[in-house]
Amino acid sequence: EKGNYRHFMQKEIHEQPIVVAQTLQSYLRPLEQKVALPDMDFSFADVPRITIVACGTSFYAGMVAKYWLERFARVPVELDIASEFRYRAPVLEKGGMALFISQSGETADTLAALRHARSEGQKIAVVVNVPTSSMAREADLLLPTHAGPEIGVASTKAFTCQLAVLAALATKVARDKGVLTEAEEREIVGHLTEAPAAMNAALGQDEAIEAIVPLVAKARDVLYLGRGPDYPMALEGALKLKEISYIHAEGYAAGEMKHGPIALIDENVPVIVIAPSGPLFEKTVSNMHEVQARGGQVLLISDGPGLAEAGDVVARIEMPTVHPLIAPLVYAVPVQLLAYHVAVAKGTDVDQPRNLAKSVTVE
Ligand code: F6R
Repeated sequence: EKGNYRHFMQKEIHEQPIVVAQTLQSYLRPLEQKVALPDMDFSFADVPRITIVACGTSFYAGMVAKYWLERFARVPVELDIASEFRYRAPVLEKGGMALFISQSGETADTLAALRHARSEGQKIAVVVNVPTSSMAREADLLLPTHAGPEIGVASTKAFTCQLAVLAALATKVARDKGVLTEAEEREIVGHLTEAPAAMNAALGQDEAIEAIVPLVAKARDVLYLGRGPDYPMALEGALKLKEISYIHAEGYAAGEMKHGPIALIDENVPVIVIAPSGPLFEKTVSNMHEVQARGGQVLLISDGPGLAEAGDVVARIEMPTVHPLIAPLVYAVPVQLLAYHVAVAKGTDVDQPRNLAKSVTVE
């Protein structure tokens, strides 16, 4: 039931701090400050390579996971969209692990990719929200998200719960590979534990986000820019906006702008820049200035220090200052809220957008 909310999507966006906390609870041991995964019959120490496969929003969770697994666990990661993976004769190393990410656990392309990877001798890990689904049944290592049923067709809470599980997974792989000290693991667990409160603070910006709706709702095209693990948030922001508001939107890696999309910029194109302060901040800000120099209208989503440093923009949304590890979980929230409010302003069917199905069981 929707309770006091107008749409399931709105309810599911607001549930995120709770369901992410629930999900983390089953992967973190707070007293020992360690990550704990379900029992498994193989060790990550022996896994030479991880292949991640998913579709849509779940694929974007996989992009963040690739970043984390490479950075923390130093394991090579291959990442592909399920519909491409199936047909491109991927080379799967002996002893490798393939990781499938899915809310429904029934997406046809992802399930077929899973079966292909199994036939090629890969260990099958699955991050899935529906515990009775086909993918859950076919996993060697089942990593459930505890988001609860997701009714809105556009995925929100399943996505941030996937990120929570994937962060725990990356930490465990790093430990098994011997590249993470106990102190570093404690630190990571500490940051993850802070994620629900930080997401709650992000939700506190709901009204500020509603206030910038007029800048976006009238646009024909919208660009989203981000870097590093926030680049997938740009892709996710654009996907959410196009799915439910039917405004054309594209996400780009901020540094890729000048290789083409900058030609689109004029005063009618809002550019949503996702840039938490941190190691990549200055680079993204310089891309932002390139946009502004061409008359682009920048809407900046950053934290206090970032907003103070960035200079003049058309609109600013302030996130809490968080460790870069949890930034994707936090910055997912404003892009979901923005898409939601723009869609409401446009009067579209938010929970049942045209042409889309919750579970895509055909190729
Ligand atoms: C976007 C969305 C879709 C799904 C995709 C995969 O809001 O919901 O892009 O993420 O269809 O679905 P699952 O995760 O069920 O495999």
